Amino acid sequence: MGANADHTTLQIDLEPIGRRVDIAAGQTLLDAARAAGIEMVAVCGGEGWCYTCLVRPLTGRVTAPTTVEQEGIRPDELAAGFRLACQTIPLTDVKVEIPPDSLATQQRLQLEGRETEHPSAPLVTEIDITVDPATLEDLRADATRLQDAVEAIDGARPVFPHALLRDLSGQLRAQEWSARLGVRRTRLAVPDGAIKGTEERDEVVAIVPTGAPLLGLAVDIGTTKIAAYLVELSTGRTLAKAGAVNPQVAYGEDVLSRISYAIEHADGRATLQARVVDTLNRLVTDLVAEVGAARSQIADAVIVGNTAMHHLFAGLPVDQLGRAPYVPVVSDPLDIPARDLGLDFASGAYVHLPPNIAGYVGADHVAMAIGTGVWETARTVVAVDIGTNTEVTLAKGGRIWSCSCASGPAFEGAHIRDGMRAAPGAIERVQITEGGQPLLKIIGDGPPVGICGSGIMDAISELLRTGIINRKGVFDAQMPRVGNEDGVLHYVLAGSSTAGHGRPIVVTRKDINEIQLAKAAIRVGVEVLLHEAGISHGEIDEFIVAGAFGTYLDIASTVRTGMFPPLPLARFKQVGNAAGAGARQMLVSVPRRVLAAQRARQVAYVELTIHPEFARKYLKSLYF
Ligand code: FES
Repeated sequence: MGANADHTTLQIDLEPIGRRVDIAAGQTLLDAARAAGIEMVAVCGGEGWCYTCLVRPLTGRVTAPTTVEQEGIRPDELAAGFRLACQTIPLTDVKVEIPPDSLATQQRLQLEGRETEHPSAPLVTEIDITVDPATLEDLRADATRLQDAVEAIDGARPVFPHALLRDLSGQLRAQEWSARLGVRRTRLAVPDGAIKGTEERDEVVAIVPTGAPLLGLAVDIGTTKIAAYLVELSTGRTLAKAGAVNPQVAYGEDVLSRISYAIEHADGRATLQARVVDTLNRLVTDLVAEVGAARSQIADAVIVGNTAMHHLFAGLPVDQLGRAPYVPVVSDPLDIPARDLGLDFASGAYVHLPPNIAGYVGADHVAMAIGTGVWETARTVVAVDIGTNTEVTLAKGGRIWSCSCASGPAFEGAHIRDGMRAAPGAIERVQITEGGQPLLKIIGDGPPVGICGSGIMDAISELLRTGIINRKGVFDAQMPRVGNEDGVLHYVLAGSSTAGHGRPIVVTRKDINEIQLAKAAIRVGVEVLLHEAGISHGEIDEFIVAGAFGTYLDIASTVRTGMFPPLPLARFKQVGNAAGAGARQMLVSVPRRVLAAQRARQVAYVELTIHPEFARKYLKSLYF
């Protein structure tokens, strides 16, 4: 296989996905994967320090391994031809293998979540009308005809946005002068700025055939995953749901790498926004096909995400989110015409973005609070949403405190020697027998290839329980399956003959250290909020654990490591994707939307790093 005749483009075959793409000479294999729409794990966004973008060129010539690769890739992998996609530049046409561990698309996507029932009271409601056809005796404009009809039924005269007028006449005639209008009743919104960005007037946002239900879309844009729900607005029923990997993963796995990408590339912000919008449009295609509906029936949407995801989606600058004091551009709710964002919904539909609280406590946390009812209970409740940044809320006696903890990507498998996401082949549960032998539960049917966040938490808890490590995380070298590699001790979870890739899967001292830092970050967040409220952990009535990772955690293990306070297990509640549930509530209920806006303003945000108790509590939290 040789270079193309003009030497300016090279053809890259990406296996085993079977995708082919042309790239310009000088671009990397990671660029090729991105161009092909393949979502590779690239934790550092291509900066060459995370070593997660492993690939293996099969045919053709590429540049020689860089120093970064020689230092970062294990010698056996380097010898087997593995390279870092972000460092490798094809010199000819190339065929390259992307191993499953380097693909971001195989992870488990969390869509379920506990839902509180709330009566449907959507902002966009249906009005069915039939009008007299235009005649030489009745020359009213089509829009006027419809406005007259709505006013006769409803008492208010809605406006038609320009985007809707383009198709109005054709549609009205095709539907024999009857239609179902989706009217956005902004006047329903309670005062004090809960619904912003539009005038106080009713507006027709969708025209569909009579009988076709108006639909809404609720979306949770996570840093790694996107969950979308198609909902019938009049009943609040979820008709279909779908998940996808956030395609921005290919530009940096964590929020900070993505902010850097947006800052350092001229079109970075636009690219990141476009990728998410494309994915949402694709998800919508699948969702409406599943229920036999049309995209033009989607008359409203609520989209939540952390502050960086919110800003990137809304096309807002993120530079200031990457630098102290990390402030958002806007914290109030926003209502943006869907078409302005490139979303293909009903032509007049809006997207509602609920409020942010701070640079690192975003609308997804607000949605979680709405979804779980944390902000409305008279009890003392702590709610945590665990991720690369973990947000913690404490509600007590009508007051609300919240903070963000830099828990890092260890729970996602990053910086853990054999860490991986919760994908097939991941060890997700570990038990260690009294004889020191591990019993493993693996996602999927195959042999283990790594360990995911819940698995590593279990493993450490069991290593503690069985005395294989002590409270400081130090190994007892005399215990079974404790090995030594270059003077560094580790515990062997799966030997090379058991593991799917023929290499042992181990928990090292360094892995334990990473988890110590992560769990201490979360515990200190909880402790500082308790300090602010002037209570001890024994007074917590309910401890809510939200988010995908939290769903799969074994609470007893987590308490044993000290990540959560030692409460009776019955006080813990694992609620799944509560942010998605909250987004759905805000989609179908104006009162829920208004409550979110009001309560978000009442939250006392606590900046942990400058809190006088932070250092002392953090050091204490490092011990198991
Ligand atoms: Fe290649 Fe991080 S080392 S993406």
